[in-house]
Amino acid sequence: MTQQQYEDLCREIWHHNRLYYIEHQPAISDEEYDALFKRLEYMEASHPEWITAASPSQRVNESLTTGFKTVTHQTPMLSLANSYSKEEIEDFIKRIQKLVDKKQFAFSAELKMDGIAISATFEKGVFTRGVTRGDGKQGDDITTNMRTIAALPLQLSGKEVPDFLEVRGEVFMPRLVFTELNEQKLQDGEPLWANPRNAAAGSLKLLDPQTVADRKLAIVFYGVAEESSATVTKQSEVIPFLRSVGLPTLDYHAYCHHLEDIWQFAEKIRAIRLSLPYDIDGIVIKLDDFKDQRRLGVTGKNPRWAIAYKFAAEQAVTRIVLITVQVGRTGILTPVAELEPVFLAGSTIARATLHNEEEIQRKDIRVGDFATIEKGGDVIPKVVSVDLSRRSQESIAWEMPKECPACGTPVVRMLGEVAVRCPNESLCPEQQIRRLAYFAGKQAMDINHMGEKVVIQLFQKGFVKSPSDIFALTETQVAQLSGFKAKSIHNLLSSIEQAKEVSLERFIMALGIKYVGTGTAELLAARAGSVEALMQMSEGELMKIEGVGEKVAQAVVEYFATEQHRQEVFRLLELGVKPRTRQVQIFTDHVFQGRIFVLTGSLEHYTRQGASSLIKERGGKVSDSVSKKTDYVLVGADPGSKLDKARSLGITVLSEEDFTALLA
Ligand code: IVH
Repeated sequence: MTQQQYEDLCREIWHHNRLYYIEHQPAISDEEYDALFKRLEYMEASHPEWITAASPSQRVNESLTTGFKTVTHQTPMLSLANSYSKEEIEDFIKRIQKLVDKKQFAFSAELKMDGIAISATFEKGVFTRGVTRGDGKQGDDITTNMRTIAALPLQLSGKEVPDFLEVRGEVFMPRLVFTELNEQKLQDGEPLWANPRNAAAGSLKLLDPQTVADRKLAIVFYGVAEESSATVTKQSEVIPFLRSVGLPTLDYHAYCHHLEDIWQFAEKIRAIRLSLPYDIDGIVIKLDDFKDQRRLGVTGKNPRWAIAYKFAAEQAVTRIVLITVQVGRTGILTPVAELEPVFLAGSTIARATLHNEEEIQRKDIRVGDFATIEKGGDVIPKVVSVDLSRRSQESIAWEMPKECPACGTPVVRMLGEVAVRCPNESLCPEQQIRRLAYFAGKQAMDINHMGEKVVIQLFQKGFVKSPSDIFALTETQVAQLSGFKAKSIHNLLSSIEQAKEVSLERFIMALGIKYVGTGTAELLAARAGSVEALMQMSEGELMKIEGVGEKVAQAVVEYFATEQHRQEVFRLLELGVKPRTRQVQIFTDHVFQGRIFVLTGSLEHYTRQGASSLIKERGGKVSDSVSKKTDYVLVGADPGSKLDKARSLGITVLSEEDFTALLA
């Protein structure tokens, strides 16, 4: 294996990333891609000195401990004036005609992404910096967080990659990711995000890149900052150019000349708006020619050469027939408005989530009220407000039931939580059903043919109470389910059989441990290697895993401390469930064992994250500050005061070469 082969492999993976994320035309299967990635990881493990920041594996860096740095934008990041009607767009065009004495103009009409404006810099094709818009003049340096976005290439490719390129675009959270995130939050009793935009903004502000990576953010670009050494002269050249260097761009845009073709584009987008996998809030119309743009200039924060045309939010008015309460997997009670069915933005709506009791009180929502409902980014519609003038005299304020609607147990409110829970974890039928459905569901064991309806029947017939019962189901039992004939019986039983072969991370997910979502389950699986090992890990050991914090560590320990949970895991294993364990390289008696490292300065051949992982894999620890307890200080270029302190304390200082030599 040579360094040349390693670099070729990096390029090959970037190429496939591009086909997948940018062209939406993958040339290889997910398995083949995974195999390439594994080879890369293997090469990097044996030659850590080859790893650079542009390796496809280096997405998640070290946590930031001191918050984000403020950065000044060389080219300011402008905002846009809004318009809401065809007439206003016409006025915009007329204004331009007056200011620039020309009859014919070209415009670029584009999607207006409803996300967070960002700026990204690439030097010699390598992603070096990401900054938020901030106030337009200065923003936060969010490079570390942006690196985690899968659709962002850390390395550009193509025939004409400029030496210096600063591009402008939008980070957003796809609607599906948002819905899943909120479902998880609901189950965990955490406050929900109001919409994908807020969720994206909140995610970018996190200091722990692993958590940001779990948020599965996406990105598109629509502009090039002036100081770039790119050769584009018009907006209509920008999108093809961005694509040519491998950057994700807007899915829809049009080259227009008149009000009518701009309007046609607006109508087309309005019609497909809800079928897009992400939120948009309108379109942006930009004067095409950069020379003309510069001539027109800016008023305040808005350019004179561009305008946003915003779509109205889709709302409808209907009556709340009833407020019901759902019990979730973890016992959280969620009120739901049952509506008189109404057609809204492409589908008939009969229910809307009311989130929690506080939300109902704040909006003073009552049974019988006429409510304005809205479809936001979430697929689940929500109640915006109620019409007090149409409220009946007899209406009474709604209250959360004092008892669980499913099992009658008095509900509890956990300290500091908005959510109300049914504490009857082991016997509440609703909680049991939800847990079973979650266990069998797509994200967890993924048992085909075992949807919610089947789960409910199996539960009600008394065949399945806990997940392990699924693997003890007999043909005679399945045959008793309504609608089940020879073929469907066979299908379900063979799906259950297949589900026994499961990856360790999915198995961990399926257990439904509090705060353990897909990303965290992966981390736990990678470190523990087996469920038996995970069951024995202490809080301290768990917290040593990069990306696992106190909350998760506590939840895992607590979960396995319950005898019932342990018995259930053992029974699952006895019944033939085989969580596939991954091979982890175990170093015993390495010189790093038990040693405390501090890293300072910038390393040439390793990222911080990479070096830290190498240390930790060998049993060492990484600390932020130098003290008497420190064993080694690893120094790169331009080290800070940590080096001086290390010297004064007589601590062993390692150069990168020393470090590499010691790794073996
Ligand atoms: S151009 C001309 N193009 O909308 C300077 N912005 O309301 C403005 N946005 O801050 C940027 N999609 O976050 C531009 N295709 C698009 C856009 C877009 C969304 C956002 C951007 C900007 C905000 C202004």
